[in-house]
Amino acid sequence: MKVLIIGSGGREHALAWKVKQSAKVDELFVAPGNAGTAEIAENINVGVTDFAAIKEAVLEKNIDLVVVGPEVPLVEGIHDFFLADEQLKDIAVVGPVKAGAMLEGSKDFAKEFMAKYDIPTPGYMTVNTENLEEGVAFLKTMKAPYVLKADGLAAGKGVLIINDIEEAEASLREMIGGMFGDASAKVVVEQHLTGIECSVFVLTDGDGYKILPVAKDYKRIGEGDTGLNTGGMGAITPVPFADEEFMNKVEERIVKRTINGLKAEGISYQGFLFLGLFNCEGDPYIIEYNVRMGDPETEAVMLRVKSDLMELFEGVAERNLAERELVLDERTACTVMLVSGGYPGKYVNGKVMSNLDQVDGSVLFHAGTKQDGDDVVTNGGRVIAVSSYGNSMDEALACSYKNAEKIDFEGVYYRKDLGFDLK
Ligand code: GLY
Repeated sequence: MKVLIIGSGGREHALAWKVKQSAKVDELFVAPGNAGTAEIAENINVGVTDFAAIKEAVLEKNIDLVVVGPEVPLVEGIHDFFLADEQLKDIAVVGPVKAGAMLEGSKDFAKEFMAKYDIPTPGYMTVNTENLEEGVAFLKTMKAPYVLKADGLAAGKGVLIINDIEEAEASLREMIGGMFGDASAKVVVEQHLTGIECSVFVLTDGDGYKILPVAKDYKRIGEGDTGLNTGGMGAITPVPFADEEFMNKVEERIVKRTINGLKAEGISYQGFLFLGLFNCEGDPYIIEYNVRMGDPETEAVMLRVKSDLMELFEGVAERNLAERELVLDERTACTVMLVSGGYPGKYVNGKVMSNLDQVDGSVLFHAGTKQDGDDVVTNGGRVIAVSSYGNSMDEALACSYKNAEKIDFEGVYYRKDLGFDLK
């Protein structure tokens, strides 16, 4: 088979690494990819939302199956674009149609869906210009910290968690007034939960499903989960608190109800579902759906998928996923993200990276890199993920940290405390 993966981050490199291991794959392409994907696949220089250029590439390369990495092309309807095109309609796409992608594309849609299908989630109210004063009154009934979520996609920046009520009220007004453009024309004001978060990944053909390894990611830039939010500084799988009892509740109360709800809505969902969950005293609550794999969770989770991922993707395409086998590696896997100095604020690209060839016992997944002549240079805030196996969390992390220390580029930074909350 000829496979195209859409995207350019560490997630897509990790998916490409896993797909490449399949005997079913003759040729692998990544669009647009990065310096890491170029080592194992052919990069095609087209943007993830340039559907016309993607079509051209798919036809030119005779692609059989497309895996969509990021959310934006899904929310913009890439799967629907394929289905509506005579030349593309029979090509398999792993990634939901736009109606399904709204679970991530609209927080309001997702909350209504959860309410309708009795999926446990914190209380909320959706606020817009029409009901802003009621929204402020609702906000004042909540306890700090106050959670404000832009309805639409806001490049990962649309969630504000604020301790002071006056500041929260001002931010709610600013959001509705256009702080995140159209994305915050509606704002979900949500009850804050106390507990610990984890990421559950499900692959589904719309009916059958497989639950992939659960991971914990680390979003803050600073050690001890302090400082600004990032795209993710690392991840660990498995998650000790996501034990069998907890995961049974997740499956019964969230996974099955979500898949049945999508069916009841007439939404044919083929792809990944990412459940952002809180464990509140042993009970799972969903705080967000994403319609893709997590990043950097994928860079750890793929290490633990022993089965042929293409076999599972075929199951999604042929809608017989339930008949396919998912075998997992029992070991722990982790990933440590090396980022540019200054990230998640301003940073400078183009820093020459060295010693990548010195890495031993870890797998490198490039996130923001590009080839510049003979050099690999930085090309983003999150630069490269160092992923490792271990017989324990400490062993996996020790391996990643040993290799992370070797990699050099000006300003390199990574968190050295991953897993601090899982001990
Ligand atoms: N790691 C969180 C996300 O991918 O959204």
